[in-house]
Amino acid sequence: MSQIIDGKAVSASVKQEVKEEAAKLREEKGLKVGLAVVIVGNNPASRVYVNNKKKACEAVGFQSYEYALDENTTQEQLLDLVNVLNRDDKVNGILVQLPLPKHIDEKTVINAISPDKDVDAFHPVNVGKIMIGDYAFLPCTPAGVMRLIESTGTKIAGKQCVVIGRSNIVGKPMAMLLLHESGTVTVCHSKTQNLKEVCLGADILVVAVGRANFVTGDMIKEGAVVIDVGMNRLDDGKLCGDVEYESAEKKASYITPVPGGVGPMTIAMLMKNTLTAAKQQNGLA
Ligand code: GUN
Repeated sequence: MSQIIDGKAVSASVKQEVKEEAAKLREEKGLKVGLAVVIVGNNPASRVYVNNKKKACEAVGFQSYEYALDENTTQEQLLDLVNVLNRDDKVNGILVQLPLPKHIDEKTVINAISPDKDVDAFHPVNVGKIMIGDYAFLPCTPAGVMRLIESTGTKIAGKQCVVIGRSNIVGKPMAMLLLHESGTVTVCHSKTQNLKEVCLGADILVVAVGRANFVTGDMIKEGAVVIDVGMNRLDDGKLCGDVEYESAEKKASYITPVPGGVGPMTIAMLMKNTLTAAKQQNGLA
């Protein structure tokens, strides 16, 4: 039987820290932290994420600015908006919700966001900083995972850490953060041949593949810490992770549920990054 890692509780404590610091910035410096959230088109999942980001801004005392653009918005129009936001002092962080419609090149848009306001940490400058361990912003989901691992009291240094998934948003930066904490890190992906054996060696297993119930209990070492980044919608409408929870929780010492594990952390870390951005832009960090 494992202990459940309560992402909602850990995220609430991160948001509380951010809220207290934001209140201090307002009272002592007259500074209201602002986050611009840009959404293009009508992707229903994106709509839910953007609404949650706006709600989180309200909860921690930030000003949110939403730009909901039509599906047919051109790349040039979107780039123009990003440039306006780059120059707007009220806007400390800019988040362009992905995915973008097919006629817009995501890379071009990400590159246009000022690295100082890139609270997703997707800009190549910030990605490069993560690589060398000199980061202004930690990428939100991997940073949330680190905080969850920390909440279990597990020490990462010297441990076998296995990350399944090599996306730019989660897998690659996740591996880097674990490495910076002196974990021995292995990154697995769709071409990995002996996946089960590699997973069985993991003291800490982070799964971010986007396939329902991909990791089963027989792939998990007794006593491992298991973090499930997956969020998959089954045919019956139910949400499930990348880890088959019932079999995995018999082996793991600690495990995240889906929902209620990594999901709430991502938004909490976005708030933290936005606060950091505001402090940096005002010479306070
Ligand atoms: N789409 C799914 N996850 C994310 C995220 O973390 N940031 C942005 N901008 N878009 C996303």
